[in-house]
Amino acid sequence: MTTAVLPGSFDPVTLGHVDIATRAANLFDQVIVAVAHNSAKTPLLSLAARVSLASDALAHVPNVTVSATDGLLVAFCKERGATAIVKGLRGGADYDYERPMALMNRSLTGIETVFITGDAALAHVASSLVRDVARHGGDISAYVPAGVPDAVAAAL
Ligand code: PNS
Repeated sequence: MTTAVLPGSFDPVTLGHVDIATRAANLFDQVIVAVAHNSAKTPLLSLAARVSLASDALAHVPNVTVSATDGLLVAFCKERGATAIVKGLRGGADYDYERPMALMNRSLTGIETVFITGDAALAHVASSLVRDVARHGGDISAYVPAGVPDAVAAAL
């Protein structure tokens, strides 16, 4: 049984996240989407809302579950028996951002990070841009799962 953890802020979950989680679910027996705390960010949505929206968005993928975690990611991975961390890459900037975290996580416990190339059609989709478009009155429904536009509007 192979278990991977797909961590992130998911503020909010996007179609890009759904794409990566679905691809990861084809590679691992079990994928746990971990809604985690990024010390560098103050989230727009509550932890409960982020978990709920990600759970709804991935309910159709049987071997994907969603959990919240507020501690060290590698401790969560150990607790859940995960042997890999999965991250999606849209391009080189993502790799530059992810590489130090992958190296740190491997240095801490030896866990490997597996990078999955996302759908090119979603390369412009990022939670930060989605929030910004919504904040300025734009329509984000093409970039996020159902339910997210209303949740983001309510939070704003
Ligand atoms: O979607 P994000 O904000 O880029 O995800 C970053 C996240 C949440 C995966 C990262 O900040 C994280 O792993 N946080 C948990 C605490 C932790 O383990 N920090 C050390 C990371 S090397």
